Amino acid sequence: MNRIQRIGIITAGGDSPGLNAAIRGVGKTALASGMELIGFRSGFRGLAENLTLKLDKRALAGILTVGGTILGTGRDKPHKMEINGTMRDMTDVIARNYERNRLDALVCIGGGGTHKNALRLIEKGLNIVTLPKTIDNDVALTDSTIGFDTALDIATEAIDRLHSTAHSHHRIIIAEIMGHRAGWLALGAGIAGGADVILIPEIPYDVRKIAAAIRARSKAGTKFSIVAVAEGALAVEDANAFTTAAWHKKIAKNKAEKLRAKQELMRLSALHAGNTLRLAKQLEDLTKLEARVSILGYVQRGGTPSPGDRLLATRLGTAAAELIQQKVFGVMVASRGEGVKPVPIVEVAGKLKTVPTDHSWITAARRVGTAFGD
Ligand code: F6P
Repeated sequence: MNRIQRIGIITAGGDSPGLNAAIRGVGKTALASGMELIGFRSGFRGLAENLTLKLDKRALAGILTVGGTILGTGRDKPHKMEINGTMRDMTDVIARNYERNRLDALVCIGGGGTHKNALRLIEKGLNIVTLPKTIDNDVALTDSTIGFDTALDIATEAIDRLHSTAHSHHRIIIAEIMGHRAGWLALGAGIAGGADVILIPEIPYDVRKIAAAIRARSKAGTKFSIVAVAEGALAVEDANAFTTAAWHKKIAKNKAEKLRAKQELMRLSALHAGNTLRLAKQLEDLTKLEARVSILGYVQRGGTPSPGDRLLATRLGTAAAELIQQKVFGVMVASRGEGVKPVPIVEVAGKLKTVPTDHSWITAARRVGTAFGD
């Protein structure tokens, strides 16, 4: 391969603020150095179905501040994609489309799933560079991910606003914040918004201890409490049940045992779906205070990116195009302090950056009296 001439780009997984800023960063740098940029719509599906979009100067104009992604996104996996009602392995088709579009490299912007999928395509010979994106901030080996800063602003503002009803009505208000497997967003917004209780997946909780903390506040004269709960936070007994089922799946000796363990995991997940509402009921029973739930949901991923995310996306996006020009492939462009660092995708895929229980944010929260239910 001589000079890099054409690069492809996709956004995959859940949308998050700053994706367009990243596309623009990659695109402007690429165009300035004489490369062509081809966008593929709807994540990995666009690569499989060859849904292309030429990203010229005009297409990149005015998108820096726009939420979502001009390319569209999706959660399809290259090796297990539904095509006309049947599940198919589309990795070879994607590799063919890569050749057909005469791509020299492909940029994949996404989170945990995207990194696993990118690795599958690297194994098929594609030259890939990734950018870490998710409001959950749970991608390994990067300080932060595109979208987290904006979501942190939104969730913090929500907690600020929930205080009004909480103190006016002397209620417990539970704000459910995104984050199935990592609690960065609930923790960050909980601290910044002054939540009295923060519940995250990394610290299984005892509902009686949460109730005791709330009752202590009431006794001291503060009749309201704010609980920031990550959607994946678990009571100790549920966390143990999940660990056991996951262990059974891991040590399963045959297909039947594996299936049973999988079914148990699915049963537990379904049970967990209404967890925040159940928690509200439990806290009402234990504290005799009224409790209400606000599920922040997709509002957290919506709208214009924060200045911090625009900056991060521009830093990472421009660096990705530079790396491609230098023919550095198979890496994720990680954010490290003020700088960026290419890290092998193979070291990122399948890993999760959870909150260490001795993390300085947790220490600080405990120092200001926040309860974690542990
Ligand atoms: O990827 C981040 C995330 O926002 C999670 O926190 C959330 O659980 C998940 O995506 C839900 O996304 P969707 O419903 O779009 O699959």
